Amino acid sequence: MPVNAYLCAFMQTSTLLKPNCYVNDAGFDWLYPEKIQQLSRRHWTPLSIAKAAARFLANEPGKKILDIGSGVGKFCLVGARFYPETNFYGIEQREELYQYALEAKAATQTRNVSFIHGNFTQEDLSAYDGFYFYNSFFENLVDQDQIDNKVEYSTSLYNYYSRFLFKKLASSASGTRLVTYHSLEDEVPPCYQMVDASTDLMLKMWIRR
Ligand SMILES: C[S@@+](CC[C@H](N)C(=O)[O-])C[C@H]1O[C@@H](n2cnc3c(N)ncnc32)[C@H](O)[C@@H]1O
Repeated sequence: MPVNAYLCAFMQTSTLLKPNCYVNDAGFDWLYPEKIQQLSRRHWTPLSIAKAAARFLANEPGKKILDIGSGVGKFCLVGARFYPETNFYGIEQREELYQYALEAKAATQTRNVSFIHGNFTQEDLSAYDGFYFYNSFFENLVDQDQIDNKVEYSTSLYNYYSRFLFKKLASSASGTRLVTYHSLEDEVPPCYQMVDASTDLMLKMWIRR
């Protein structure tokens, strides 16, 4: 576990120091090593967006929410902290990021969050009540600013993943909630109605009719 994460864990439990991991993005990103912090602005959900998305998804206690492409776990950990009656799950294809998410979970002593290492296409999406999606497949469409070069990138992979998710969302139960952030909406079926959005339209809240 990085030294920063130990310090954050200490701050969480200390009666002398206030917890600071959830005050701002820099404070939260401090849970991770510097190379992960440097990816934050481009690849991890900002704290205010994570809170707004979690508020919409955690509308009833006991719900199971999946972050499709959870990175180092930022959305899930923030959601779990502010909505302790909701269970947050994250699935991430890159093992290194998954390991950092597990370390951050331990450092923050978060109970209601679970991380899965794998491709979302292998997960049973029908087991979840809601989904968070920060344009995870977009890395297949660009040739710069990728997280690393450890996975295959291609336009056909973008199309495959988008269509796969589209079909799964189309067959989900009525009332299923979805939040998209910076999405091109290729994965959003027409049976999902947009019910709220940020003023810049980057963050959108959807409900399956
Ligand atoms: C933009 S980052 C968002 C991370 C996290 N959701 C957050 O908001 O902080 C997208 C993540 O999706 C992951 N990803 C992309 N395609 C995936 C797939 N098919 N299955 C699982 N994870 C995937 C990437 O490895 C990356 O970590």
